[in-house]
Amino acid sequence: MDTASQKKWWKEVVVYQIYPRSFKDSDGDGIGDLKGITSKLDYVKSLGVDVIWLNPIYGSPNADNGYDISNYDDIMKEFGTMADFDTMLSEMHKRNLKLVMDLVVNHCSDEHEWFKQARSSRTNPYRNYFHWWPAEKGKPPFRPGNFEVDGSGWRFDSLTNSYYLHYFSYKQPDLNWENPKVRQEIYAMMNRWFKKGVDGFRMDVIPFIAKDTTFPVITQKDLDAKYDGRWDVYQASGPGLHSYLQEMNKEVLSKYDIMTVAEGAGTTKSTVMDFVDPDRKELDMAYHFDGVSLGYVPGYFKKMDPNWSLVAFKKIYSDWDSVFENKGWGTIYLGNHDQPRMVSRWGNDAPEYHDASSKMLTTFLLSMRGTPYYYFGDELGMTNIKFDKIEDYRDIETIAEYNKVKNAGGDVKGFIEDQKTGGARDNGRTPFQWDAGLNGGFTTGTPWLKVNDNKSTINVVAEEKDANSILNYFKKMVQLRKEHKDIMVYGKYTLLDVDNPDVYAYTREAGGKKVLVLLSFRKTGGKFNLGTMQLGKEWINNLQPLTVQNGVVNLQPYQACVVELK
Ligand code: NOJ
Repeated sequence: MDTASQKKWWKEVVVYQIYPRSFKDSDGDGIGDLKGITSKLDYVKSLGVDVIWLNPIYGSPNADNGYDISNYDDIMKEFGTMADFDTMLSEMHKRNLKLVMDLVVNHCSDEHEWFKQARSSRTNPYRNYFHWWPAEKGKPPFRPGNFEVDGSGWRFDSLTNSYYLHYFSYKQPDLNWENPKVRQEIYAMMNRWFKKGVDGFRMDVIPFIAKDTTFPVITQKDLDAKYDGRWDVYQASGPGLHSYLQEMNKEVLSKYDIMTVAEGAGTTKSTVMDFVDPDRKELDMAYHFDGVSLGYVPGYFKKMDPNWSLVAFKKIYSDWDSVFENKGWGTIYLGNHDQPRMVSRWGNDAPEYHDASSKMLTTFLLSMRGTPYYYFGDELGMTNIKFDKIEDYRDIETIAEYNKVKNAGGDVKGFIEDQKTGGARDNGRTPFQWDAGLNGGFTTGTPWLKVNDNKSTINVVAEEKDANSILNYFKKMVQLRKEHKDIMVYGKYTLLDVDNPDVYAYTREAGGKKVLVLLSFRKTGGKFNLGTMQLGKEWINNLQPLTVQNGVVNLQPYQACVVELK
């Protein structure tokens, strides 16, 4: 049986990710909120998308913008109330939009009641909800702590003379999944949200939940030899992982018609099937990091090499497609709240190429096999804000990395420059651009993060009026994917012209029908040799016309098209 014969609703949807903090502020405090989202659901519906994934909206002190949860059954006060949530969900369902929530259960907040209890004494009943290392055993073996200036994943807590584990900031203590009580608490909480009617979960760093809790010393040599030098793979390899996911499936997921997607941090092509093979009864989909990790210069924090290789890019997406050739299901994305804006990183945000390259990337995302996760604002062609000074940044990760460079006496100016095109997460988190007015129509107050000046041209009002806008192109691509589901969703994918450094070319086919997708990733355009292929009807083309001379297609800079083959 191939994947095409295993049809599921969640394979056919387009997921639209909303970063709630930055979508629409209804009360003028400069922070997006649930009422704001509800007020804009007609816009979301007009895009043609089916599912909304919301980043965490639970009670949180916001050390990491909601990825540090202090109450899983509450709504963050900046975002509103549970009544606002109930209204939002029912308004979504009225419009036939589904809601996927973020599930953050590798860690919670150090302000969660569980942790407050746990840290109070070594004999507290909640002590084993977390991972502790008593200081009388000496210093714990190194584990990395993302978002910490000293890079350590252990924090000393003097009250009980112990260290606790936190893979992210010290405000995000890791939960101890080896403790069955923790697992039961989490399943019960998930059940409560499903009973409210949510339609799925995106599971934050889910492969990290299980770890080797003997915490052996792991040397760089072990890491290189067994884990390709990757801590994320080592951290994600806990022995109990799949039995926990199967237990979660049995006790929670299998009871509802919902979708699940793992943030597959640390998963590889050879391990991903363990999560998404339907016979194993774990999760539906996972997303990988191989694509978005491409092109970073070694030794720097997410500094982008402007000459990143398209050949390598094509290989990554093609190899991942082949993983799901016979079973399981893939995902596809180029942007999210942890990534810079897709057009600034993979396209070209210079005025002359911004329009074409945004549309080209949208063509890619919506013509691949696998469920597309499309990041809000990319449908407008929103770009990196490119801050000139660290004071403009709000993100815990960028600030920690900046301080690392500063403390080491490094090149802080270079760091700021690198973040303009590279990895600074705030590039993708700036407020949504509704109109050309004050704060782009996002808030009447002071926005928590600056609004990009290009709101004057890149905004919903302007783009809704322009039939050729990036926004209207996105809507057309969504419709195309839906009209031609057999080909665009389920159809076989074949990479062509593997070594072409400028053009990504592939076919999709089903039921005897075949289309060719041509994408120029260069400001110099690109050439594609048709060989014996004969072009038929064009389904979409971001830059008319398509020029063919002696069997060679001459693509314009960032041209994209989907065309039938005869
Ligand atoms: C992945 C999330 O996408 C990211 O935003 C967050 O900082 C970490 N996990 C920690 O929860």
